[in-house]
Amino acid sequence: TWTMVNIVEEQVEAIREQIGDRGKAICGLSGGVDSAVAAALVQRAIGDRLTCVYVDHGLMRQGETEQIERDFVAATGADLVVVDAEERFLGALAGVSDPEEKRKIIGREFIRVFEAAEVDVLGDAVTGEDADTVAFLVQGTLYPDVVESGGGAGTSTIKSHHNVGGLPDDLRFELVEPLRTLFKDEVRLVGEQLGLPADLVWRHPFPGPGLGIRIVGEVTKERLDILRAADAIAREELTAAGLDRDIWQFPVVLLGDVRSVGVQGDGRTYGHPIVLRPVTSEDAMTADWARLPYEVLEKISTRITNEVDEVNRVALDITSKPPGTIEWE
Ligand code: XMP
Repeated sequence: TWTMVNIVEEQVEAIREQIGDRGKAICGLSGGVDSAVAAALVQRAIGDRLTCVYVDHGLMRQGETEQIERDFVAATGADLVVVDAEERFLGALAGVSDPEEKRKIIGREFIRVFEAAEVDVLGDAVTGEDADTVAFLVQGTLYPDVVESGGGAGTSTIKSHHNVGGLPDDLRFELVEPLRTLFKDEVRLVGEQLGLPADLVWRHPFPGPGLGIRIVGEVTKERLDILRAADAIAREELTAAGLDRDIWQFPVVLLGDVRSVGVQGDGRTYGHPIVLRPVTSEDAMTADWARLPYEVLEKISTRITNEVDEVNRVALDITSKPPGTIEWE
């Protein structure tokens, strides 16, 4: 629409004004819509002086990494560095079952990997050794986040952060936040305007720690593959039923430490349960369990138990928030 064209043009102009020819920028892509739209806007403004970095922690859902590597790049022409850190994350998570511990490990490893990428991409600009070049960090901060944090920093504040080890003590960069006047709906429309893939633009919220907090128990490659297969089926059927945009989020959870007895063909099985957690919500602060049609639930259940060998039972979470949270961990 006319307004969206305007927003895109205005933002691109504002980014050009802020960055000018003073330096180079980096943008971390999470796989979600906010970082993708922020990156696409900055790419329009400064081209290949922007480098996007995607840390593949091995905890994404089926097809998500490819969506960034292939579809996002095709749509934007952005320069992308993918850091394959699956082994590192799974190594750090080995033997860990406690949810908070998992979150801490994933967060810590993520910062370490991303900071190393910042230094690789931005070089002396971010370490402060080259005072003539400014390092810009692009972030997909939305208007509600700005309000929540009491106004926060302006778009051109110089920030520095202390890294978690192994790198220069202090990395310096200027923040670029092209979405800070926008609401989520507007970000999606801007994303469409920029030609980003629909799957990406309309993606449900997905937690930073990814599937790492959707496996109850230890996170292993084998369990991740089981969960990815089940999750892909649930999302596929939700979309096929045309209900994708009626649902706020649809976590699919693997009970990794639980097994139950089942029967399949002429054999007894002893597999893991999968829990479906479709919810409706306005803002994730409260949520209600989604009343998905029985036929959709039936299709998901039948397909998961038929197609995913290690799963022999599918359960539906009918708890609202509160008292339940949306995620299981
Ligand atoms: P809960 O489970 O607390 O989740 O009801 C509320 C919303 O936050 C998301 N969530 C996260 N998002 N990093 C994120 O970026 C996280 O560590 C995280 N934990 C929960 C969750 O998916 C839901 O939308």
